[in-house]
Amino acid sequence: MSVFDHIEYDGHLRITHVTDADTGLRAVHAVHRTVNGMSGGGIRFRPYASDDEALTDVLRLSKAMSQKFALAGIPVGGGKSVIIGDPAQLKTPALLAAYGRYIEGLNGLYVGGPDVGTNAEDMTELARSTRYVTGRADQSGSTALPTALGCMAAMKATVQAAFDREGFDGLRVAVQGAGGVGGELVKMLIRDGATVLVADIDQAALANARAAGATVVSTEDILTADVDLLSPNAMGAVLSPETIPTIQAQAICGCANNQLATPDCADLLTARGILWAPDYVVSAGGAIDGCKDAGLITPEERDAKIDGIGETLAAIFAIATQDNMTTDAAAQLLAQRRMSENA
Ligand SMILES: NC(=O)c1ccc[n+]([C@@H]2O[C@H](COP(=O)([O-])OP(=O)(O)OC[C@H]3O[C@@H](n4cnc5c(N)ncnc54)[C@H](O)[C@@H]3O)[C@@H](O)[C@H]2O)c1
Repeated sequence: MSVFDHIEYDGHLRITHVTDADTGLRAVHAVHRTVNGMSGGGIRFRPYASDDEALTDVLRLSKAMSQKFALAGIPVGGGKSVIIGDPAQLKTPALLAAYGRYIEGLNGLYVGGPDVGTNAEDMTELARSTRYVTGRADQSGSTALPTALGCMAAMKATVQAAFDREGFDGLRVAVQGAGGVGGELVKMLIRDGATVLVADIDQAALANARAAGATVVSTEDILTADVDLLSPNAMGAVLSPETIPTIQAQAICGCANNQLATPDCADLLTARGILWAPDYVVSAGGAIDGCKDAGLITPEERDAKIDGIGETLAAIFAIATQDNMTTDAAAQLLAQRRMSENA
């Protein structure tokens, strides 16, 4: 099958297989679109079950980056890298240097950043051979804080739309996953007057959440907790035909990537009257921060765009109501409009 017939192919500008025999590097890089000749997106390092799975992931994720940047009002196209293999066994300075040389050769067409399987130290390593990498240890390092700040702006818009109320005072929130992002959210929500339930599989994360004033519940009970707002911040595919009928929250807003197990779960949520804030809108804070690191926006613009996630989400909710569509469909429509305005 030609890549042009691939189900996830969406007119991507470029798809490249990258190899380096000396270091065992095998990667797929995709640029979905560029704006002013630029694209950006994370560098994922995963033991994919097959090369086709890696291709599917890079096509899907690079398109998602285009939508994320367009919705965040950032003039950059979407790109993504996936390095195939177990990072614990394969990741070496030499392999990262080889991938860095590949990125450098693109001369600014693509800027990479940390993603699943890579971290700030890896970006520092890559930066030895390319200028086009963000999220180095000497820059912002973790993107958890800007991501959580964006999520708070998104939660305000969600609470406004779902409950017609300002702020979090007295709101009951269930937070699934209290790691980098979820841990920050727990602290901010409690600071703003919410009652927070939290679940995690990591005892240190739970201890921090408890110290911040959250009540710990089991990982089995968090999704079905009797709360107003549910915030998934652990893993993907948590909203499925099995879980959706059991959810008591009337609104969902969190940063976990790919929360819908399948696209039609958006319809199931709408049918149950649950307002879902699409994760690719909610979790844009880290990507926005990366654009500041890349020198594309100033720190002030970064703060304004992170805050602007709330306005974008309010616009998505308004489209969904007016045009009687799911919030997922409304977000994709708005992303498409913004991409054609900024082609
Ligand atoms: N960090 C970012 O800037 C960023 C940006 C965009 C999206 N995201 C997404 O947000 C989510 C959280 O990111 P993070 O950086 O906080 O990751 P993290 O690894 O720091 O935190 C995830 C937490 O979830 C917990 N967890 C794992 N399985 C669980 C389960 N079954 N039940 C409850 N908790 C469980 C982990 O123990 C961990 O504490 C991820 O899906 C990530 O892809 C993060």
